[in-house]
Amino acid sequence: SFKAVVLVGGPQKGTRFRPLSLQLPKPLFPIAGVPLIEHHIDQLCQVGRLFEILLQKPIFQLSGLSEILLLGFFPTDLFTEFIDRCQKTYRVSIKYLEEPNPLGTAGGLVSFKNTILSGDPDAVFVINADVCGDLPIEDMGAKIDSISGSSMLMLTTEATRQQSINFGSVVTDSNGKVVHYVDKPTTFVSTNISCGVYLMKTEVIRQLDLPLNGDGIWLETDVLPQLAASGNLYALHTTRWWSQTKTAAAVLYANRHYLRLYKKRYAARLCKNGAQIIGDVFIDPSAKVHPTAKIGPNVSIGPNSVIGKGVRIKESIILPEAVIEENACVLQSVIGWRSVVGVWARIEGIPLEPNPNLPFAKMDNKPLFLPDGRLTPSLTILGSDVSVAPETIILNCVVLPYKELTCSYKNQIIL
Ligand code: GDD
Ligand code: GTP
Repeated sequence: SFKAVVLVGGPQKGTRFRPLSLQLPKPLFPIAGVPLIEHHIDQLCQVGRLFEILLQKPIFQLSGLSEILLLGFFPTDLFTEFIDRCQKTYRVSIKYLEEPNPLGTAGGLVSFKNTILSGDPDAVFVINADVCGDLPIEDMGAKIDSISGSSMLMLTTEATRQQSINFGSVVTDSNGKVVHYVDKPTTFVSTNISCGVYLMKTEVIRQLDLPLNGDGIWLETDVLPQLAASGNLYALHTTRWWSQTKTAAAVLYANRHYLRLYKKRYAARLCKNGAQIIGDVFIDPSAKVHPTAKIGPNVSIGPNSVIGKGVRIKESIILPEAVIEENACVLQSVIGWRSVVGVWARIEGIPLEPNPNLPFAKMDNKPLFLPDGRLTPSLTILGSDVSVAPETIILNCVVLPYKELTCSYKNQIIL
């Protein structure tokens, strides 16, 4: 059997995710209708189920997922409801392990070692919460089974030469053994980068006995380079979709890709009827959508939201209980919890994409402001409980919670 640890971080992290992380921890932000880390949980759970159903016997030792541990320094109660629901949905044990202070990406693995190793799993996945993608969980399982000794497998993907230095850089030999690993190098090392998704043989965790100190213990600097040096670190390269979700701007990109994955694997989650639907659209069953609304492509509409007559929504996320009134138009935007967009208003952002002319380009984690002080052109985000007056235009703006917008705004952060 295997377990999984999801590194969810804590409240000091995810600042680039504001204002969307003001209401709930970034790992719980809904993308394609599902909290970010639920996508990881879902993909982890598919493995065991698939083997149970198709083969009726395990073909490698990692056939069953016995437990998922969320590891972070958020207060535990923020995750209680989510965990209760997921345990029921996925029929797997899920626990939250709270670090008293940030312990680093490996610190929690050390201090909660006994909990992680209880039940004697064969291997443990460790996944950064702030990545998204079509993770090849089964392939990683099969690969670690073919590797002897106390070893660890890391998922890698290709990046551009320029962007690679913002990630862990990985050099492998022809067998996939990592000969050199360095996190965020100052100069170019390799276009192979770490995806922040690992599979560790249990012994690797058992042997982690670095002393806990104030700076934390880090996989990236304290563990991976040493494992590479001793010949115990391997890489599995993937060409499937993978990206980071560091900034609020990354959510529409992630939304589009998760919706596309639904089409391949969980078609039932995608909406087929009701309003006029274009392309991939997720609508929560409790949302009220007027049949004359035109929605899509790449739109997710959360629980209990109300979409009025003649509304047009495209490339956007509508969060729970938001109201989009008659004939309003929402493009490239995120509409916050309980926000109200008035009749004939227009909320529009600017699409952000990885550079389409560069193979393997990733989304840039652009800062909020350009060097000249202007706001980086990006999606429009309405925080929670914002109201937008009828017949106004909100273009390329970030609006903090509880604002009442009575006129049009362009290229602004509205505090
Ligand atoms: N539990 C816990 N405790 N989690 C933490 C802590 C901590 O003290 N600090 C960070 N994390 C979590 C974050 O929430 C995130 O999911 C993950 O650990 C890594 O976050 P960062 O430390 O910000 O690293 P990064 O995302 O810039 O880079 C890492 O991920 C890249 C892939 O996305 C590195 O591993 C890179 O090498 C890698 O390429
Ligand atoms: P598709 O996106 O492929 O459907 O192409 P299209 O040409 O129909 O364009 P789209 O539906 O995106 O509409 C073009 C523009 O018209 C949008 O940017 C909106 O400003 C506006 N628009 C379209 N439909 C509506 C609507 O039902 N209500 C309002 N208020 N504006 C709309």
